[in-house]
Amino acid sequence: MRILFIGDITGAAGISILRAQLPRILEDYPADVVIANAENAAPNGRGITPKIAEQLYDIGVEILTMGNHTWDQREAYQWLADDMRVVRPANFHVDAPGRGYTFCKVGKSELAIGNLIGRTYMGLYACPFEAADRMLSEVKERTPFCLIDFHAEVTSEKLAMGWYLAGRASVVVSTHTHVQTADERILPGKTAFISDVGMTGPRDGILGVKRDLIIKRFIDQMPVRFELAEGAKQLSAVYVVLADDGRAQSIERILIVSD
Ligand SMILES: [Fe+2]
Ligand SMILES: [Fe+2]
Repeated sequence: MRILFIGDITGAAGISILRAQLPRILEDYPADVVIANAENAAPNGRGITPKIAEQLYDIGVEILTMGNHTWDQREAYQWLADDMRVVRPANFHVDAPGRGYTFCKVGKSELAIGNLIGRTYMGLYACPFEAADRMLSEVKERTPFCLIDFHAEVTSEKLAMGWYLAGRASVVVSTHTHVQTADERILPGKTAFISDVGMTGPRDGILGVKRDLIIKRFIDQMPVRFELAEGAKQLSAVYVVLADDGRAQSIERILIVSD
């Protein structure tokens, strides 16, 4: 099973580079399934709307994962509850709309896609490690193919999750920092891992946001309304190949830049 996972799609720039580049990427990386983190896909980078989700499905993304921006758009709440093609962190409260994992038919097999959120410098969430244990015990009844998007801030927590799930999940990719890390590898037990897939959107901002706003905020520490940057774009992704038993064979980083 060949999987293309695209890092945080951010605003219109992220959608536009994805639309332009995905067909060419799929020529070089013939994925059986395309998954994307879409927590920043709304025009202002905050959350997602059902309309934006439809655009991503039209482009060819089959499953969407979320993160700390899950609740930024009120109109997405009911959609999160209804649409089986989107997952939000499984360690949100049990009453929160939506689901922590879902399944996607891929050829004759099924891929489970799960979402978790970290706690260090993130917020007060239930334990993502316990949530991962619960998720895997349920998923493994149905399929050996399992990808988890761990949406977290610090590399140590991301690595801890990778090693915690090594040999149990097929793929542990991490998102949220918007900066692609160069530590992709196959962990013992054949679990593909990367500390951060990186961001798909404006290249010359700071994590996608207009850089002047962010620089000013670091200096004067005053609140500021974020606006997404314009100009050059980037697409960040990983391509993972799994064997028929669900174990990872390879993981490759993809970073594409365009004007
Ligand atoms: Fe995030
Ligand atoms: Fe993000």
